[in-house]
Amino acid sequence: MNVEKTIGKLALVLSLLVFGLSVFFILVELVNFYPDFLIDNKNETSFIENKTIDEHLPAGRKGQEIKYGYLLINQSPGYMGPQASSEQLRYTGNNLSCTSCHLDNGTRSGAASWVGVTKRYPKFRGRENRVSTLEDRINGCMERSMDGKSLPKDSPQMEAIISYMEWLGEGASDYIVQKHSGFTDIEISSYRADTLIGKAIYEQECALCHGNNGEGIKIDNKNKVYQYPPLWGHDSYNNGAGMHRVLTAAAFIKGNMPFGQATTEKPKLSDEEAIHVAAYINKYSRPIKNNTQIDFPDRKLKPISTPYGPWEDEFDSLQHKYGPFKPIADYYYQQYGLKKKK
Ligand code: HEC
Ligand code: HEC
Repeated sequence: MNVEKTIGKLALVLSLLVFGLSVFFILVELVNFYPDFLIDNKNETSFIENKTIDEHLPAGRKGQEIKYGYLLINQSPGYMGPQASSEQLRYTGNNLSCTSCHLDNGTRSGAASWVGVTKRYPKFRGRENRVSTLEDRINGCMERSMDGKSLPKDSPQMEAIISYMEWLGEGASDYIVQKHSGFTDIEISSYRADTLIGKAIYEQECALCHGNNGEGIKIDNKNKVYQYPPLWGHDSYNNGAGMHRVLTAAAFIKGNMPFGQATTEKPKLSDEEAIHVAAYINKYSRPIKNNTQIDFPDRKLKPISTPYGPWEDEFDSLQHKYGPFKPIADYYYQQYGLKKKK
């Protein structure tokens, strides 16, 4: 009968539709979880990561400005630090370079890369409790990681550094920008970091390059620039720096250290080992940043392992420095619905 035939056809069309839709959604999910599934990003990644200052700069003034930005971030002590020829040029306070932490000149994913960073700002930041520009963010590292002073926003140095960052991210897809953001994930610890275990790991995996006393190794004696940067002491990042938080340092270390052996995709240390060794390097004294009590005006937004108060909770300073961090994370989730990852 006609009615039966129509119903039969309808059923067929419907099942095809359901089947088609399922396949579609499965594909969408696959691409979500494994962006490499349909799109071949390997070429794009390697082009961006292998772009060099010597071969790929645009001609003319723009190229010169980018090159100057590169020298500032790669040879900071001489171009804007303690080794600069004139007093006025000395903005950074220690002899680190920006690239001591932002590895491979800011292109390495898993090391707070700058590829695409110009697209991530302005954005809200808890440390200032307002929308921050990229200039503010750079000055955050100037005053803390580099233990120095801010660069004026319209200075040639600031403009050059931003031009360099723009050039790094030129043409990068959203996938690349996302891939290069931040550090490797690390599991928030439910134990207290143990600096004795950290010391043993340090001696085995780190001291060869960073020195038994965390003092680093200079390229030569005349020149105060480091081949292997110091991890504590007077020439290191100050106590207000992100690297002074155990969870942030551990995430950096897990994906990048020991240098040449660990990558984001293939770390060498486990999460626990990275946390113990991060606690060990951060137990020593380092330069002190003034006015850290005014950081994070909304105290709820302070990262869990910020080792200086005041805090919006009752956990003591020892726990904020060494953990266990999980109870602190749980507290903020239960009280304020905040999911803190660091
Ligand atoms: C001692 C290590 C260290 C040094 C040196 C350092 N930084 Fe950073 N930088 C960090 C850390 C850690 C973060 C991420 C902090 C966080 O996750 O809270 C960061 C973040 C940034 C960001 C934001 C990245 C993003 O995706 O949001 C920029 C931009 C930046 N740094 C620029 C610089 C510049 C420019 C210099 C040199 C003037 C510099 N940094 C020196 C450790 C360092
Ligand atoms: C083979 C030498 C080598 C080893 C081993 C090594 N590092 Fe590094 N580390 C480096 C270099 C080189 C840099 C800076 C990268 C640059 O300047 O290009 C660095 C940078 C760092 C930084 C950020 C810069 C700073 O001075 O604060 C930290 C933190 C760090 N290393 C910790 C560790 C820890 C912890 C270990 C052991 C688990 C370790 N490293 C093992 C060579 C090494």
